Amino acid sequence: MTTADFWEQRYASTQVWSGRVNQTLAEVARGLVVGSALDLGCGEGGDAIWLARAGWQVTAVDISTNALERGRAAAEAARVPSGRIEWVAADLASWRPAGTYDLVSACFLQSPVSLPRTEILRRAATAVAPGGSLLIISHAEMPPWANDHHHEHADFLGPAEEVAALGLDSRDWDVVLAEVRERDAVGPDGASARLKDSVVRARRARND
Ligand SMILES: C[S@@+](CC[C@H](N)C(=O)[O-])C[C@H]1O[C@@H](n2cnc3c(N)ncnc32)[C@H](O)[C@@H]1O
Repeated sequence: MTTADFWEQRYASTQVWSGRVNQTLAEVARGLVVGSALDLGCGEGGDAIWLARAGWQVTAVDISTNALERGRAAAEAARVPSGRIEWVAADLASWRPAGTYDLVSACFLQSPVSLPRTEILRRAATAVAPGGSLLIISHAEMPPWANDHHHEHADFLGPAEEVAALGLDSRDWDVVLAEVRERDAVGPDGASARLKDSVVRARRARND
């Protein structure tokens, strides 16, 4: 099964995620100057919609058109001004950002099917504008509702491993956050669990 087929099927019939913003993303974004944002693997758009409502100009990319359709509908329902979110259906394995962004985020960009995650994140770092932030939030360990396929493909990196994998040049980047945060969550099938998130934020130096 291809990556696109897997995710299209995953999103085919019912809403998968809560539709709410990831709390850590909201906390970080509240401390930033509003500008342009790139949301990698945006899913059904919970983060993109929250950012857009907070005034960000958002480019939201996902491989699943089903997920993007749900995101578009949710944005309309939330009265997000038209044009505030550009929804892009693309495989991040080959997609190249056209410009630079004040915030590039990847929230739970993890997949039980093939995903060149490190390559995507390294490329995404090059799309962070001077003074901008790269924010990566991910499962530091497998959520209980993930199936065994996750063992084969998904990367569950702690913050230090994530930072090392990014290979950021310390002359150009400051890692301002690299920690594990715990939170209570409810999975797609209604089961509750306490999860460990790896949170990494790196800030790119300004040009001046
Ligand atoms: C675990 S979900 C996270 C969704 C969302 N960011 C969130 O926090 O709820 C991972 C997302 O990455 C997307 N994805 C996986 N592989 C991808 C790829 N190669 N290119 C683009 N999107 C991809 C999936 O379609 C899915 O929406």
